[in-house]
Amino acid sequence: MTTSRAMAWTLAVSACLSWPALAEEADSGAIVAAQFAAGGNNQGVRASGAKGVCVKGTFTPAPGAAGLSKAPHFAKPTPVTARFSMGGSSPKISDKAKPVTRGFAVRMSDGPSDMTFVVISAPVFAARTPEQLLEFFKVRAPGPDGKQDPEKIKAFGAQNPETTRQSAWLNARPVPASFAGVDYWSVQAYTLTNAKGTPTVARLKFVSADKAGLSDDELKGKPDSFYADELKARLEQGPARFDLVAILAEPGDPTNDSTANWPEESRKTATLGMLAITGIEPNATCDARTFDPVAELPEGIAGPADDPMFAIRSPAYAVSLSKRAN
Ligand code: HEM
Repeated sequence: MTTSRAMAWTLAVSACLSWPALAEEADSGAIVAAQFAAGGNNQGVRASGAKGVCVKGTFTPAPGAAGLSKAPHFAKPTPVTARFSMGGSSPKISDKAKPVTRGFAVRMSDGPSDMTFVVISAPVFAARTPEQLLEFFKVRAPGPDGKQDPEKIKAFGAQNPETTRQSAWLNARPVPASFAGVDYWSVQAYTLTNAKGTPTVARLKFVSADKAGLSDDELKGKPDSFYADELKARLEQGPARFDLVAILAEPGDPTNDSTANWPEESRKTATLGMLAITGIEPNATCDARTFDPVAELPEGIAGPADDPMFAIRSPAYAVSLSKRAN
């Protein structure tokens, strides 16, 4: 081999070795497949939030909300379809599981226009980019013995420390006593725009009016599934209330990294309205379509254009819907 041919060969080999196409592309299909695999490949369920309860209610905007956003949902009360859920793709997950996020998908419907938020019981998400999310799930896929490899998970966490912030946060807090007894964060930043065109950047938070956690002893006394019955009994007594609060960004707060917490205690907030969950709905009401937090937004509110984790949610939720509908 001549020197120049040898050089070309070496270059070609090293180009192949580092060529990104060799790594699996972190598209919505690959991520959803990895989500299903991490939970044991259950059929007919969501790739995340597989175990959950469908509910209904009303959102009533606060007097100042229209000053921040021209979305019609901030101008008058709207009916709500919502779903509480346990994180992950296993419908058999225990309601006692820790560190696992509880989820809340909320659709406010104003005639043809929906405003949908899909939020979790932690202020941060577990991955910063689609590539990192794909790997996050891949290292959690059970092996042939049906068990996850804790060493693999630990090594991934050590190499990607920002992916461990969510579990650290959850581990430092008690398991919620109720789906309605915990706060839920958007983790991603939204831009609210009012009728004058003034933008306000904020993360959103549903603040429970009745926060309660379980002590370790209380947790021991609970069965693996108690949230659905607890919620039914609670709603028979009256609505479960949440304030929707905007946590206002200050210069330097990242809008493209949902693993980074904003120092919430020192941020100004604005209450956008009150969500009253009033009753249980048949599962079919929530299962017929997906709660799409990207496509279902009216004028006056937009997700973060600079966060690749936001846009990818729409196709991922559609892939999951197509799989569970089959
Ligand atoms: C970044 C913030 C995110 C939050 C707070 C979040 C939260 C949630 C919640 C609460 C659910 C349950 C929805 C329901 O009850 O119907 C859900 C479902 C789902 N999430 Fe996310 N998620 C996030 C990002 C992502 C990303 C980046 C992906 C994948 C690229 C993803 C994939 C899914 C899928 C496939 C479902 C099932 C959808 C369905 O079948 O209807 N999520 N998510």
